[in-house]
Amino acid sequence: MAGFINNLLILLLLFQNICLGFRSPLSVFKRYKDTSRSLSSECLGSDQPVISFGLSDFALDIRMPAVTPKQSDTYLCMSVPLPVNDEAYVVDFKPHASMDTVHHMLLFGCNEPSSAESYWDCDEGTCKDKSNILYAWARNAPPTRLPKGVGFRVGGETGSRYFVLQVHYGDIGAFRDKHKDCSGVTLHLTHQKQPLIAGMYLMMSVNTVIPPGKKVVNADIACHYKRSPMHLFAYRVHTHRLGKVVSGYRVRNGQWTLIGRQSPQLPQAFYPVKYPVEISYDDMLAARCVFSGEGRTTETHIGGTANDEMCNFYIMYYMEAKHAVSYMTCTQNANPEMFRNIPQEANIPIPVKSDVLKMMHGHHEETKDSDASYLLQQAKKEEAEILDQDFHIEEAVEWPGLDLKLGQVSGLALDPENNLVVFHRGDHVWDENSFDSKFVYQQRGLGPIEQNTILVLNPSNANVLHSTGKSLFYLPHGLSIDKNGNYWVTDVALHQVFKLGANDKEPLLILGVALQPGSDKNHFCQPTDVAVDPVTGSIYVSDGYCNSRIIQFSPNGQYVMQWGEETSLGKPRPGQFRIPHSLALIPDLSQLCVADRENGRIQCFRLETGEFTREIKHKAFGRELFAVSYVPGGLLFAVNGMPYPGEAESVQGFVMNFSTGEIIDTFIPLRKSFEMPHDIVASEDRTVFVGDVHAKAVWKFASAEKSETIAEAKLKNKPESTDLLKNMDKQHLVQQASSTGVSFVLITTLLIIPVVVLLAILVFIRWRKTTVYGDNSDGEHKLDSSSGRILGRLRGKGGGGINLGNFFASHKGYSRKGFDRLSTEGSDQEKDEDDGTDSEEECSASPLPPAPSSS
Ligand SMILES: *[C@@H]1O[C@H](CO)[C@@H](O)[C@H](O)[C@H]1NC(C)=O
Repeated sequence: MAGFINNLLILLLLFQNICLGFRSPLSVFKRYKDTSRSLSSECLGSDQPVISFGLSDFALDIRMPAVTPKQSDTYLCMSVPLPVNDEAYVVDFKPHASMDTVHHMLLFGCNEPSSAESYWDCDEGTCKDKSNILYAWARNAPPTRLPKGVGFRVGGETGSRYFVLQVHYGDIGAFRDKHKDCSGVTLHLTHQKQPLIAGMYLMMSVNTVIPPGKKVVNADIACHYKRSPMHLFAYRVHTHRLGKVVSGYRVRNGQWTLIGRQSPQLPQAFYPVKYPVEISYDDMLAARCVFSGEGRTTETHIGGTANDEMCNFYIMYYMEAKHAVSYMTCTQNANPEMFRNIPQEANIPIPVKSDVLKMMHGHHEETKDSDASYLLQQAKKEEAEILDQDFHIEEAVEWPGLDLKLGQVSGLALDPENNLVVFHRGDHVWDENSFDSKFVYQQRGLGPIEQNTILVLNPSNANVLHSTGKSLFYLPHGLSIDKNGNYWVTDVALHQVFKLGANDKEPLLILGVALQPGSDKNHFCQPTDVAVDPVTGSIYVSDGYCNSRIIQFSPNGQYVMQWGEETSLGKPRPGQFRIPHSLALIPDLSQLCVADRENGRIQCFRLETGEFTREIKHKAFGRELFAVSYVPGGLLFAVNGMPYPGEAESVQGFVMNFSTGEIIDTFIPLRKSFEMPHDIVASEDRTVFVGDVHAKAVWKFASAEKSETIAEAKLKNKPESTDLLKNMDKQHLVQQASSTGVSFVLITTLLIIPVVVLLAILVFIRWRKTTVYGDNSDGEHKLDSSSGRILGRLRGKGGGGINLGNFFASHKGYSRKGFDRLSTEGSDQEKDEDDGTDSEEECSASPLPPAPSSS
């Protein structure tokens, strides 16, 4: 029993030290040499913290109650109760912080704040019971937003009935005029159940020992993932001063996919995962921290004080609500052998930017000129990325289109009324039995598809408004709609192109010869898509899986010309194709853009001449680019293919600026996953639909700009900062612009860190120590002795303010979620494992040797 109480003490101590751990790395930043005063001298909102909008939504304004810190590097805390009793979801955070005085803010959720005062010095503690970190804001870090439909649970049984705000004030110089500060954060909460629940996966080394003076010491952590799929969207690294770089990976079939890699000496905020990573049942999660023991004269161990070290990799994820687990942890190294194959980048320290160095060391001499220009470039790039956040495409999770019973969805288009039109394969599938080696369709015996293959859907509620196209097609592929509302479709089995009136049973025009592949003026070979010029009525056909050309026809179907050739060996040249798969007309510029699928690029051509104008190709496309869609106003949308084994470029949607070709946004669904997104269509209001042949689904995505309305009016930093800049002397301004450009952009990050999990880890360590260490590998012994040492050291320290009752109560609530590691509830993993046969089909459709063109 005494041992158990000891454990609890240790756990609570560790928890306190964890809090210090958060604080210490940021507090090493020296004051930022800026004499300007705080921007938020007015204290808006503090008298009315709850603003209700609608029945279920409300905003909670959490602000410092007009404080004036007396010293630099002061940490002040304040608390606000959750104004409701039952469970709620935090779906958005809006920071209000003056960049020139606030280094960082942390928001905790807990049941018992350390003080009942209106505010207090955080050295007195944050919470008396366990506390979860809910949100972090640090300047010089990029923003992370919760995707739409994703929420953090608070209130109810979650153990977060109070919010405690901790603000780290940096330079006291800004308070010489004794003005008052009201920095804080506005939360947007809702009672509405969120379809997706956010959570935290924590990877943490417990046994690393860093010998004094040793140049490179790795701390490796790895666990098998045995739960429902989770989608990672942000990560945070944490070490103390000896950490050089921390990297986290998913390892699947021996292939390492980067989750995130960061220097722990940069602001330890949450950084967005660059390319979304999905973790499925049986994947491995692996992380490595690289330390250097240089400058130390004694061994350094894992622990909470600034002289100890930590190696933590936090991953923020979301899961479908019905399987959601809020917290998971990994403290072991399940497969040390595996780390022999870790990508080399994990061992390379990340350069720290000059402005951060300045903040940390108070001088800039150590940055060389060449570095300076590199760093400036980096800063600009980051700023651009931050600005791009103004516009983001997210799945419209309330759209019921996912529930439609569709066959393989091959084509999508919008009709002149902006209704969504879907072209699907009903009960037919394209698999390895569909064609012989000469591309002759083998399943005529099935007859044409009996169902209506063309469905017209209301884009708002997915109601089927109209359907047509039964008993006509064998293997539908492309769909487009001309300005008069006619449907233009291709069938890869028939090797034909059809024009259908919306209300006609019989086609108005047929190009190609039924079931006869070929390469002349009258034959196609698995044609993929059609585009019709709204001005001239000219018809363009991409042909196809087994030809490499674009053919132009007159409005009544007369052959006009063609261009394109098969891709030669080596780098694909302009005008060469490897499956021209999807077409997008750019009417404003009289161009036609082609998704050159297996070359992983978009090529554009002049409509009148077929002359090549440009190529758009990004590394992020990976090897395959499936479909492309253009929206007047200059936006180009695209979807790529699943990554090849060992390649990191994930399957997703892209939004590009057509004139520059730059990617300005990427998106993936929140519900289900892309398997083979096959067609994409977008409208001018940036509503986007993606159809998937394997998932047999159509997702709707919309611009997330609109959801960003809370408390916008109160965010007065921008205009004020402009005024402020005017008052500053020029030299200062120049310095600002060149070295700390990014710091002027409001930067947000958010997190929930389940400290209770950390506590429980220690129980786990303790338990392992006493039970599992019968194993006799060296690593295990090391773990044993070092964790014993941590425990011993922690045991020596005093506690205070411990509420065991709360600990038990809350721990009980969490233990199920946090530690039932072997749960097998993830029944839908198998789905991800592939449907075997039909996953082959379109992927493996390799280009055939050139069929001789009979002119
Ligand atoms: C594309 O980029 C150019 C140049 O930066 C810019 O002027 C234009 O507004 C951008 N277009 C869109 C649609 O974002």
